[in-house]
Amino acid sequence: MCGIVGYTGAQQASPLLLEGLKKLEYRGYDSAGIAVVKDGKISLSKVTGRIANLSEKTDGGRLLPGCTGIGHTRWATHGAPTDTNAHPHVSNDGRFAVVHNGIIENYLELREELTEKGYRFSSETDTEVIVHLVEMYYAGDFRQAVMKASARLEGSYALGIVCADEPDRILVVREASPLILGVGVGENFFASDVTALVAYTRNAIYLEDGQFAELTPHSIQVFDCTGNPVPKKISRITWDIQAAEKGGYEHFMLKEIMEQPRAVKATMAPRLKDGEIVLDDLQISAADLKKINKIVITACGSAYYAGCAAKYAIEKLCRIPVQTELASELRYADPLIDERTLLIVLSQSGETADTIAAMRECQRRGARALAIVNVVGSTIAKGADWCLYTWAGPEIAVATTKGYTTQLTVLFLFAIFTARKLGNLDETEYARLLGELKGLPKLLQQALDMNPGLPNLAKKYHNNHSMFFIGRNTDYAVALEGALKMKEISYIHAESYAAGELKHGTIALIHEGQPVIALCCNEAITEKTMSNIVEVKARGAEVLAVAFRDNQKILSLADDMIYIPRVEQIFSPVVEIVPLQLLAYYVARENGCDIDKPKNLAKSVTVE
Ligand code: F6R
Repeated sequence: MCGIVGYTGAQQASPLLLEGLKKLEYRGYDSAGIAVVKDGKISLSKVTGRIANLSEKTDGGRLLPGCTGIGHTRWATHGAPTDTNAHPHVSNDGRFAVVHNGIIENYLELREELTEKGYRFSSETDTEVIVHLVEMYYAGDFRQAVMKASARLEGSYALGIVCADEPDRILVVREASPLILGVGVGENFFASDVTALVAYTRNAIYLEDGQFAELTPHSIQVFDCTGNPVPKKISRITWDIQAAEKGGYEHFMLKEIMEQPRAVKATMAPRLKDGEIVLDDLQISAADLKKINKIVITACGSAYYAGCAAKYAIEKLCRIPVQTELASELRYADPLIDERTLLIVLSQSGETADTIAAMRECQRRGARALAIVNVVGSTIAKGADWCLYTWAGPEIAVATTKGYTTQLTVLFLFAIFTARKLGNLDETEYARLLGELKGLPKLLQQALDMNPGLPNLAKKYHNNHSMFFIGRNTDYAVALEGALKMKEISYIHAESYAAGELKHGTIALIHEGQPVIALCCNEAITEKTMSNIVEVKARGAEVLAVAFRDNQKILSLADDMIYIPRVEQIFSPVVEIVPLQLLAYYVARENGCDIDKPKNLAKSVTVE
């Protein structure tokens, strides 16, 4: 969960590397560094903290001359975020420098072996073993040395390596960590993510696990792990630069919240043709769908909560039991999964380590996996049996927003599509549900516009140590995501509870002035949630309710209101989450938090 970049060409590398690292900073931001090759020497600069510190230290990169280099922005796993633990790491003879994203699982034994052989370690990182291995195996052939070193590594790694003797050459290796090559004219690049490449080129090569590549300014060669050349497949990057920039908003998160009507429309529109849902990328027959006796949805964090929210729609429409499983649990659970299970894997990045492992474990047991992913060509997208992309565009803020709502959109499309194939929906109901679905972008826009008072509510509620989010059924699922948004960006402890559970313990925590966010958009059971509101109010809670605009009953009970437009019940989570994202955003802003890069977090969790 670090970001790596590299450049070789005719321009000075360091300023370009810094630009690339800024785009990747969401992946980790506790320390950073660059290494550049010139005149048979590697120059290095590393700092603790943000890329801005590195830029200041190197005068925007100008202090490090050289046209070939590598860079890194770190999210610490092994060793504290210090200058010495920051990448790049350099070999004892000063000939090689490496940047690494991932985890070397056998680093302790390699470290012992290398120490016995006399190699000196200057950091506590797992990465440093790599550069010493390359030095150990070097006998004049850079590529051979990198291949031999990589063969000794266990774990996940995307590597960029430079050699002082070969100033025009970068070697990169990919194993279970994202790595993309950018194909330029007279210059070539690599990065963890296309956002660092789009400013320079739209031609990309997505390396596969176990592949190496050798980059020079005028060539890219790809090899398999035995050194045999592999044909290159150049793909076009469709994301534009603006999509990866703030576009006038104070934060990426706010921009991405505001983009949701468009993102949901972009996700849905190509799949609605002539009054039908067309899922070209899900080639499954009605007969095969009928054989499915269970759907398991697996993911982490918000993506998992999207699964929890969509479970109600899938079960209601398809009448197939849906089990939601945290990927980090499922992978070790010895799960009851077989060829009659349909696995749905949700991931914005497509690179979350636990989700990848859970998917592979379930596939090993016979399940077929349908991935719902935002990043094209990512590991989950490639490893699944089918992949339906969420066309949300790049999501840069660490806290997901449009990733979540577009995942829900695809899940709703899937639910209606499957229900229709199974014969559970007649023509009229099918057409009605499609009409409701098509209306979601408009309702999302209304939900964005409907609560101009949210910044003031944030002023009232930001000074609290904890908040409760309560609801029932779909409202409860949204409460899970609402509470996560609040805690991860504002650092306020926020707990979500099924409203009916309060009296089984949690109500003991309600005291005078305790904020309770009560979600009341599932009108079939709002009466029940209203009783819970009365219970917490009787104990002094300050209640902020979320309800449909015309719901007068709740208005008379709550201290404050957030409104959403009326929406078809099973689709309500996609609209209901929007004001809660905004509330979390404004509370975090009141608290002076670093909204796009919350502490201790990283965007793409590529380690277990
Ligand atoms: C929270 C958030 C995380 C991610 C989780 C899974 O705002 O963004 O909880 O949802 O880390 O990430 P992906 O979807 O990339 O697998």
